[in-house]
Amino acid sequence: MKHFITISDYTVEQLEKMIDTAIDLKQGKTGLNLSGKNLVLLFFNPSLRTRISFELAMKQLGGNVVTLNTGEDTWKLETEEGVVMNGAGVEHIKDAARVVGRYGDAIGIRAFAAGQNWEEDRKDPVIEAFAKYAGVPIINMESSLYHPNQVLADIMTIREKYGKSLKGLPITITWANHPKPLPMAVPNSILLAAAIFGMDVRFLRPPEYDLDGMIMERARDLSEKAGGKITVTDNIEDGFKNSKVVYAKSWGSLQFYGRYELEREHRKQLRHWIVDDEKMNFTDSAVFMHCLPVRRGVVVSDSVIDSSNSVVYDEAENRLHVQRSVLYHILTAALK
Ligand code: CP
Repeated sequence: MKHFITISDYTVEQLEKMIDTAIDLKQGKTGLNLSGKNLVLLFFNPSLRTRISFELAMKQLGGNVVTLNTGEDTWKLETEEGVVMNGAGVEHIKDAARVVGRYGDAIGIRAFAAGQNWEEDRKDPVIEAFAKYAGVPIINMESSLYHPNQVLADIMTIREKYGKSLKGLPITITWANHPKPLPMAVPNSILLAAAIFGMDVRFLRPPEYDLDGMIMERARDLSEKAGGKITVTDNIEDGFKNSKVVYAKSWGSLQFYGRYELEREHRKQLRHWIVDDEKMNFTDSAVFMHCLPVRRGVVVSDSVIDSSNSVVYDEAENRLHVQRSVLYHILTAALK
């Protein structure tokens, strides 16, 4: 049994195999069948793309899928171990996980960081509890730390533009402004992905938007192993210069974690962190990427996201193809 919690649990060969299958599926390959298999999707947070693409992916492969919004469709879950349950939580997560694992052959979970205490959030308590107690593979649909299906679709999208060998390909991963502090799962995961594939990464952010040290260390190890490079900078021109891929995302500052009023004040001086034509002109005709949803006029200008270099809808479409592949490989234990 293998979970799909972070792509850094997989070798580059396994990830390439999953993308190869996704490309075959996109090109119309048939014959992969999950009939008789049951997938349960649990959403602790809202979704547009992830929910639609996972449900369709399972149905297109002939499997069954049940989707629940936790706390609305289900009892409110208690996550603390050993607690006396006389508070808001009606069912303990370990009981829920064991039960759902009796129904589903795999469980997809979306559970963002709670946003108050990073030391707690970085343990990814919901995903980890399900992985510990459910007894079936867990597929991460975005947690505090990781969004593996998103970045596998992103790597597939980059491959469609630049070919299979991504080693040395310059990618700018840039922080962008936003009215709210957003989760770090996407920047963590695209950084790890770019490192695994040996890309020339320019990680561009104001210094107070550094990612968790554990992620940076893991990314540096993976990059070194793959013969890639990671340059961390807050110089916007250096970050964009000659890049072939611009991947924009906003995320919250660990420095201000749980103190959003302070962060909101701080962000007033960061409004120029928008991906616009002036910045894209520093690149080597880079493609523009974003996982969506995106705030137009804040994270990216209309002119950039609507340009012919924007691949944001390809990324969204590729979620469907990648997830059909991930579901097939996880549910049939097809990866060696
Ligand atoms: N990119 C992404 O995961 O989109 P949703 O939050 O809409 O699922």
